[in-house]
Parts: sequence; C-alpha cells; structure tokens
Amino acid sequence: MGQIIVFTSGKGGVGKSTLVANIGTSIALAKKRVVVIDMDIGLRNLDMIIGLERKVKANIVDLTKNLCTLDDALVYDKRTQNYLALIAASQSDLKKDINLFKFHKVLNDLEEIFDYIIIDSPAGIEEGFNKSVFFAKKAIVVVNPEISSIRDADRVLALLENHRIKKEIFLLINRYRKDLSQRSYYISATEIIDLLHVPCIGIISEDERVLRQNNSGVPFVYQSSFSVSTEVKDVTDKIVGKTKSIKRNAPPSKSIWEKMKKNSI
Ligand SMILES: Nc1ncnc2c1ncn2[C@@H]1O[C@H](COP(=O)(O)OP(=O)(O)OP(=O)(O)O)[C@@H](O)[C@H]1O
Ligand SMILES: [Mg+2]
Repeated sequence: MGQIIVFTSGKGGVGKSTLVANIGTSIALAKKRVVVIDMDIGLRNLDMIIGLERKVKANIVDLTKNLCTLDDALVYDKRTQNYLALIAASQSDLKKDINLFKFHKVLNDLEEIFDYIIIDSPAGIEEGFNKSVFFAKKAIVVVNPEISSIRDADRVLALLENHRIKKEIFLLINRYRKDLSQRSYYISATEIIDLLHVPCIGIISEDERVLRQNNSGVPFVYQSSFSVSTEVKDVTDKIVGKTKSIKRNAPPSKSIWEKMKKNSI
C-alpha cells in the first residue's frame, strides 16, 4: 500500500516542484516505485523539470473525468528503470475541474501500484491546495529563509494541523545560505524550526546550478558531486525510513517574530 505525501508551501516559487522532481527521482533511484502528480492545474511544469514533457499524452484532469486510462496518464522515466512515473497537470483546465471523489479513486488505484505517491501542490491555500493535501498522510511544507515564506508556512501548518485527515507534518527548508546564517538579518534554520515548531526533514542549499538543471530537464540529483544532491538524498533516506528528522522541542520564540517584523520595516 503506497504512502501519499504532499509538498506544499502557501507562498509560491519556494521550490516545491524542483524538490518533488528531485526527491521523486532519488526515491526511484533507491529502487522504490514512486509516482509524482502535478496538481498545479493550468500551470503545469513538473513534467519539464523532470524532462518528460514530450511523453505526456494525458493528465490528471483527464483521468478524474474518465477521459483516459491510468496507463494513458502515467509517464514512466526510463532513466530510473521506470521506478519513477509522472502524472502531469492539465494546461487548459481549472483547479475546480478536479472532482475530489474521483481524485480519491485515482489515488486508491495508485496506492496499489506504487510505494510512494507524491503530490506537488500549487501555491496558495485555496481549492488547488485543499484538493492536493486532502488525502495525504504526510505533508512536507517547503519554506525559504524569508519572512514572507515563513509566515505563509505558519498559516499552512495551522490548516494542516486542523485537517480532518490526520497528517504527519514536516518542514523542508530550501534555498538556504549557510554563509549568511550568522548575519543579524538572516533567519537561520534553527530559528525557522523553533518558530514553526515542526520537525525538519532537511535543509537544501541555494545553488544557482539548480536553475540550469531545471531548464535542461535533468534533475540535479543525477549530478552526484553537487551538495544539493547529497542533501536531497538525506531527505530521501528519511522518507523511506532510513534516518530520523531533526526535532526541536523549544516553544515558538517571540523574539524571532519580533526580529522578522523588525527586518520587514
Ligand atoms: N535550492 C535551490 N537553489 C537555487 N534555486 C532554486 C532552488 N530550488 C528552487 N530553485 C529555483 O526557484 C524557482 C522556483 O522553483 P519551483 O518552480 O520549483 O517552485 P514552486 O514552489 O514549485 O513554485 P510554484 O509555487 O509557482 O509552483 C525556480 O527558478 C528554481 O530553479
Ligand atoms: Mg510548482
């Protein structure tokens, strides 16, 4: 029975699709069957980051409308010996075109085939977000070390924590600059974890080569010399249960909110 994991954030552009593409690939290279689903209906791009856009014939909306079969919508990635599959988003439909009941049925079918079902949520906290997170048992909230991203993540965490379907929730810090972490204006990883008060599954550095890899359709995890690749592999080990996440028990610190406020003026 597959595990359903959603990557979400609130704020847009924090790296959800980049990380879904790379963590999905990394799980597949560890010989686990994984499907990544692009739920950013209308704005699909996960297929391009993975480099499978030419093979997409059908999408998640077609699937939920019974306009195609599961086989038509699943695009397998040969570089991973088909351990990785993608279901693309539609470019011409709207988020409301996904019926939640039908989406549940698709997830049930996928749970029979794959070990991991990873959902790439759109930004925001509206319809697309709600549908993406609804059935997930694990939610990974991607956050950048920026005041706006942290505040949006805080809002998303509150929604996830009060959700009808109980979820294990983790933070994943992306675009982190260790070299800046001692600067007074920078919000360090420790501060982010203390502030949001959720276990952290990993910290991925800022690396300008990520953009190059995204544009070329070759996920950066194939470049084993990149430190971001090692960082993604560490997250993969935690997802597949080999190692534990960083937990901090300190209560949310007011001073950090104050520091964030001060820096935002
Ligand atoms: N670790 C990183 N280092 C440098 N650039 C990164 C990193 N992660 C992501 N990026 C860049 O950030 C931008 C946004 O990434 P991405 O599209 O994955 O974000 P997203 O959260 O999926 O956005 P949206 O909310 O619009 O779906 C891209 O240009 C990507 O190359
Ligand atoms: Mg995205």
